[in-house]
Amino acid sequence: MKAKNILAVETSCDETSVAVVSDGLVKSNVIYTQKVHEKYGGVVPEIASRAHLEKIVPVYQEALGRAGLGLDDLDAIGYTDSPGLIGSLLVGASFAKSLAQALDKPIIPINHIEAHAIANAIDSDIAFPFLCLIVSGGHTEFRICHSHVHTEVLGCTRDDAVGEAFDKIAKMLALDYPGGPQISKQAMQGSPDRFRFPISEVPGLDFSFSGIKTSVMYFLQKNVQKNPDFIDQNLADICASVQKNLVDTLLEKFRLAISQTGIQHISIAGGVSANAELRIRFADMASELGCSAYIPELQYCTDNAAMIAYAAYHKFLENPEGYSYFTVPSARIH
Ligand code: KG4
Ligand code: ZN
Repeated sequence: MKAKNILAVETSCDETSVAVVSDGLVKSNVIYTQKVHEKYGGVVPEIASRAHLEKIVPVYQEALGRAGLGLDDLDAIGYTDSPGLIGSLLVGASFAKSLAQALDKPIIPINHIEAHAIANAIDSDIAFPFLCLIVSGGHTEFRICHSHVHTEVLGCTRDDAVGEAFDKIAKMLALDYPGGPQISKQAMQGSPDRFRFPISEVPGLDFSFSGIKTSVMYFLQKNVQKNPDFIDQNLADICASVQKNLVDTLLEKFRLAISQTGIQHISIAGGVSANAELRIRFADMASELGCSAYIPELQYCTDNAAMIAYAAYHKFLENPEGYSYFTVPSARIH
């Protein structure tokens, strides 16, 4: 029987990515990361949409070429419909819808956060249901993944996402954007117990990261007033202490989520799951609690279209009709 081939597009933030999945296997996953935002210390939405417009066609051509397929081989087109930057999402959605209409193939809209969680099943033997903590630049969320196509939200952040906390604190320390990898790199040389910051106390499985951000800001202001070189002289220790606070917060909630749900298959996903400290301590926690731990390969942690194509492939199996250009719902931005 002919393989089912899905091409999908991801443009929710600052990565322009197109991937092809055939019968659940990733055949290509081309990712272009927009460097233009570095000089602004964060993603500038208007610039992001323009950069997606410039890159989407060459990235798509490369993805199709690397998969060794032609347009006639495609069975459906997937795309990220939400959440994300509205202008950026619009570029990917318009491209995907135009392609689907021209080929007369179904269109499959995909939720970006759900796709991050489902990425744990790519090339892995993870068993459903599994519990996933999605930690990205825009979201911090617990989900139960009941199947490839059905996930349930258990809790989420009430303000900043953990990636946003990494990025904003990195900015206070004059580190480059994106700040998460920079803090992680500096932290490797520092002492995590040198400085203490308060752990946020939010009931249940929700999170809050605005408190740590404010407390680091006041801590830096106070110390820089006394010693203008305080940050330079203590950078590694500050980064290690901040990282410890954030990872402690995530794992403390994870223990609660495991005890509340009784689910023993656990995973992390999203950009912050690339963090070395989190990966190690998450695996340690799992073995202490007798759980099986899963972490996506690094290429599937940060934004990528393979996770969108993979999620779309499973939605396609469930409902091969999908949506047409005329029936697809408009994006549910949230
Ligand atoms: O999932 P992602 O690529 O994009 C969103 O959907 O937001 O996540 C990006 C976030 C950024 O906040 C970035 O700083 C963070 O992931 N990140 C990291 C690391 N690599 C990426 N945070 C901590 N340590 C890392 N190694
Ligand atoms: Zn993401």
